[in-house]
Order: sequence, then C-alpha cells, then structure tokens
Amino acid sequence: MSSAIPHVYISDFKHHVGEQVRLKGWVYNIRSSGKLMFPEFRDGSGIVQGVVSKKDVGESVWQQFETLTQESSVIVTGTISKHPKLENVYELQVSNLDIVHIAHDYPITPKEHGVEFLSDKRHLWLRSKRQWAIMRVRHEVINAIRDFFNQRDFTLIDSPIITPNAVEGTTTLFELDYFDLGKAYLTQSGQLYGEASAMAFGKIYVFGPTFRAEKSKTRRHLTEFWMVEPEMAYYDLEMNMALAEEFVEYIVQRVLEKRKEELNILERDTTKLEKITRPFYRLSYTDAVEWLNKNNVKLTKKSDDGTETEIDFPWGEDFGAPQEEALMAQFDKPCIVHRYPADVKAFYMKRDPINPKVALAMDMLAPEGAGEIIGGSQREDSYDALVERIKEHNLPMAPFEWFLDLRKYGSVPHSGFGLGLERTVKWICGLEHIRETSPYPRMIYRNTP
Ligand code: 4AD
Ligand code: MG
Repeated sequence: MSSAIPHVYISDFKHHVGEQVRLKGWVYNIRSSGKLMFPEFRDGSGIVQGVVSKKDVGESVWQQFETLTQESSVIVTGTISKHPKLENVYELQVSNLDIVHIAHDYPITPKEHGVEFLSDKRHLWLRSKRQWAIMRVRHEVINAIRDFFNQRDFTLIDSPIITPNAVEGTTTLFELDYFDLGKAYLTQSGQLYGEASAMAFGKIYVFGPTFRAEKSKTRRHLTEFWMVEPEMAYYDLEMNMALAEEFVEYIVQRVLEKRKEELNILERDTTKLEKITRPFYRLSYTDAVEWLNKNNVKLTKKSDDGTETEIDFPWGEDFGAPQEEALMAQFDKPCIVHRYPADVKAFYMKRDPINPKVALAMDMLAPEGAGEIIGGSQREDSYDALVERIKEHNLPMAPFEWFLDLRKYGSVPHSGFGLGLERTVKWICGLEHIRETSPYPRMIYRNTP
C-alpha cells in the first residue's frame, strides 16, 4: 500500500493542516444530506469527521461511499482543514477512498444497548468512543504510576502469580493443582515478595495482576485486577502515608494535564479533580467511629432469624461501603483512615506500640463515592510477634518460613501499600461501575470474552 501521499494518524492532524494525507481506519458513523456526506472515521488515535461532496469526488467515488457501513475498514485520501467553528477540531475534505473490508451488520449501533449485551460484545465495545476514552485514561494512569516510582529511584520487581500461600485472608483464594506439589494459588497481592525485595533493593514496587475470588457482586470488585505495591525499607507509617498522598496527587494531576480530550468525552467534571492536591485529610479509625456515631450513621445488624436492627457503630467492627460513603460525603479530597483495630486487619501488620489494639494500618478513601483505593501498613518486623500472628490467623507456618527469614537476618522497620488500578481509573473517570475500567473484566458472573 505504498503511495506518495503520507499516512497521518488523526492525533497528528493538527500538525498537517492544509496537507493532503491518507487516513487508515474504520467508519465510525455516517450522516448524509443529499449531495454531501459526513462520515466519521476513527483510526485508534482519535475520531475525525470527513466531508464528502458528490460534486468534488465524482460519481464513482460517491457510489463507493454509499456502500460503506458502520465499522467497515477504509483508507481515505483527503486534505486536512480546520473546523469552521470549533477550536482544535479538524476535518478531512475527502478526495478518494479505498475500501479494505465491508462490515456486515455491526451489532453495536448508535442506539442504546443493555450493559449485558455490550459486555458480551466487549471485544467490539472497546471501539466505542467512551470505552476508548476510559482505556486511554487507564493507559495514562499506568504511565504515571511507572514514572512516579522510576523518578524516585524505586526498582521494579515482579512478584510471582502462582504462589504457595494466602496474603489477604484465605476466603478469596483461587486454587489450582500444581503438578506433584499439591495446591497452589493465584496471588492476591505481591506484597510478601515486595517485602523481601525491599530488603535487597531498598525501595521497590511490584506492579501486576492480582486475583481475588470475591463472592460479592458489587460495583467495585473484580476477580482479576491490577495493583501497584511500593515497599520501602526504613519507612514508618507516617512516611508511608505521605508517599501515598504524593502519589495520588501526581496521578490525578498527570491525567488532567495529558487526557483532557478523554475526560471531556466522559463528561467528567474536572473541577473536582483539580482540587486533588495535598494536603489530603486524615482520620484515625477511632475518630472516624466517633464521627459516625455523632452523625447518627447506624450499623445494620442481621440476627439469625433475619430481623434487622440498627445499632451505634461499635469500635472494633470493620467499615463497609455505607460507613465509608457517609464519612467521605464531607470531603472533596481523599482521606486516609489509619490505625484500624488489629483484629480486622491482615496478619502482617505491625501493632501500634502506643495502643496494641490497633494496627499501623492505613486505607485511602477517595471522594465522590469512589471508596477505598489504597490499603497499606507498616509491617511487623519482629520475628516472635509475626510467628504469633501467623498462628492467631490459623495460617500454616511452612509456606511463610522464607518470609520469616526477613525478620531473622537484618530486620528493619518497613512499610508499603497497594493501589488498585481499576478503582483509581473508576474514580478519575467518574464511572458508576468498575467493569468499564478493565479491557476484559473478570467478575463473579463473567469470564468471557
Ligand atoms: O487493601 P488490599 O487488600 O491490600 C493489599 O492487598 C495489600 N497487600 C497491599 C499492600 O500493602 N502492598 O488491596 C489494595 C487495593 C485496594 O485498596 C483496592 O484499591 C484494590 O487493591 N482492590 C481491588 N480492586 C478491584 N477488585 C477487587 N476485588 C479488589 N480488592 C482490592
Ligand atoms: Mg483493603
């Protein structure tokens, strides 16, 4: 397909105004009015409107255009012009057409479709404008994550996906048979390997897919999601929280700077994102419980016979979505809740020496109902205390022997956290449901396409 006329991506049209170019892409949409046709073309880098005039292109090219259908693939020749009214919008004044393939009955039409239908057609749905915008924001968030840690001299260390033990509780493990070695599990978090790596490299981050057999069908749970987990030797909880805040500010501001067009397509209120600058809010769990009770946010308890009663929120209970939402309704920026009751948190978290009932844990909650985007803690660095915790949580000792080694050979205070990629994209894009943040989402009732 060589030709003297250069191929230019739509995203580069702004640099080629007045030039004759070729666009290689697909037909997104067609509007026609008598002797003028206004096909929209997409090429992956953007969408542009073409202008086809029967008088200018001649009868045969016009007839070719009349055969085009939604999602047919085409190579179009034309001259780039500025939109007569809109700033930063370009058009293609079409002179010629090569049809690569005619699509028959593309199933996703401009009419409204149900979400189950669209999810079944996810492999095609990704071509739609909104999905395109969300994936481009996701791409930017991923780049921002990598740049943030790389610029701060963190080393990327990959952790294994097939693992011999649980990290975040035994109820959400995906199990598999591993040859003669018995049961193995898909990783819930790379953290334990991150801790070992931090002892070797100082500051590291793990960034990869993680798995949870979540039985809950909610708007913010996937069974497969990506998590980035920094882990730092010689960091205490305070340093850990400060890093998390700097990190989240960086991601949001980066997306605002680089993905205006995409946020615009999503009709995101960007003034809300512009406010995401430090300082963020912080609350201890204990103060948060006090706030809930002062503001009459009750906990619904179900008894064995199914009757529901509303009670004051008891210290010691973990927060659910209703408590998090009530708390966050007062904030326009993220809030870190820290020092949760040790009993509701993971085995590896260090107890607060000032009050051993609480763990040096922290969760970052995002505003606008987005909920928890980060979970983290200072880690238990004492060998004896960690052995005790593993026993308390009824975890088998053998798979943790290597993890305990870290407390035998040069143990140091250390901390880290995990940020859920899809939860973060959902918040930044202002989406109702997490399923649109993953190119091919995996949920309790969906593992296709
Ligand atoms: O709070 P979590 O379970 O923390 C950990 O896994 C720690 N080991 C991380 C660490 O300290 N290195 O998960 C961390 C984050 C959550 O805040 C949430 O954003 C996301 O991972 N997450 C999920 N995202 C989508 N679907 C799910 N089922 C998720 N479970 C957790
Ligand atoms: Mg958590």
